Amino acid sequence: MAIDLAVIGGTGLYQFPGLNNIERHTVDTPYGVPSDAIVSGTLGDKRVAFLARHGESHSLPPHRVNYRANIWALKELGAQRVIGVNAVGGIRHDMGPRVLVVPDQVIDYTHGRLSSFCDVEGAEVLHIDFTEPYTMPLRQAMLDAARRIDMAVVDGGCYGATQGPRLETRAEIARMRRDGCDLVGMTGMPEAVLAREAGLEYACLALVANWAAGCGDEGEISLNEIFEHLRVATAQVSPLLLALLGD
Ligand code: HPA
Repeated sequence: MAIDLAVIGGTGLYQFPGLNNIERHTVDTPYGVPSDAIVSGTLGDKRVAFLARHGESHSLPPHRVNYRANIWALKELGAQRVIGVNAVGGIRHDMGPRVLVVPDQVIDYTHGRLSSFCDVEGAEVLHIDFTEPYTMPLRQAMLDAARRIDMAVVDGGCYGATQGPRLETRAEIARMRRDGCDLVGMTGMPEAVLAREAGLEYACLALVANWAAGCGDEGEISLNEIFEHLRVATAQVSPLLLALLGD
C-alpha cells in the first residue's frame, strides 16, 4: 500500500483530523509492537498514515516508546516520507510558546534507548551518514507549504533531545544553550536516526509548548500552561500538513 505521508504525533496530537476511509493496522515487527495501531486513511487522493507516539491514550513516557517498532511498522505499511511532530521547550529568543519550528540539527543527550536496527544478532553493521539529521527536501516541502498558506514557521534550529520524563534544570538548559541547542524535547531521538537507518525521508515539526527551564519570566513550568500552548500550536498542524499534501 503506497502511503503519501506518515505522521508520528507527539503530545497533544493523538489523531489526524479529517481522514476518510480509515483503517486501523495492528503491526507486529521484529523489534516488538509499535506505540499503538497505525491509522491510515485518505485526504482527497492522498493516502496518509498516522501513529500516536505515546499511544492514543498517552500511556508511554518518552524513554519507553518503542521507536524501532514505530519506524519499522510505518515502513512496512509503505511509508516513504515521515514527519515527526514533537512538543518542545524553547531556548532561543524567537522560539517561545506556540511557535512552530522545522529544525535542521540535533544533539542527542538521551541514554539507554535502543537506537539502531543493527544491534540484533546477525544484522549488518551500518555507519550511516547523519551530518544532516533531517531530510532536506521534506523540510523544504514543509517550509514551502507554510509559506503558501501564510503560516509562520521558523526555518532551522538545533533540537536537543533529553532523556526525560522530567523537565531539565536551569543549569542543564544553560549548558544546552552553550552547546548550540535552540529547542529541547524528549522524543526527537532516536526516531530521526532510525528513520535514516530505515532509508526513510524524515523531518521534524516542533511545537513550542513552554520556555525551557530558566528561559522564561515565570519560575516553575506548569503543565496546564504547556497543554494550553500546545493546544493552540497543534491547531496549526493539520492545515500545514494538508498544504504539504496538496503540493
Ligand atoms: N523540555 C523537554 N521536553 C519538553 C519540554 C521541555 O521544556 N517542553 C515540552 N517538551
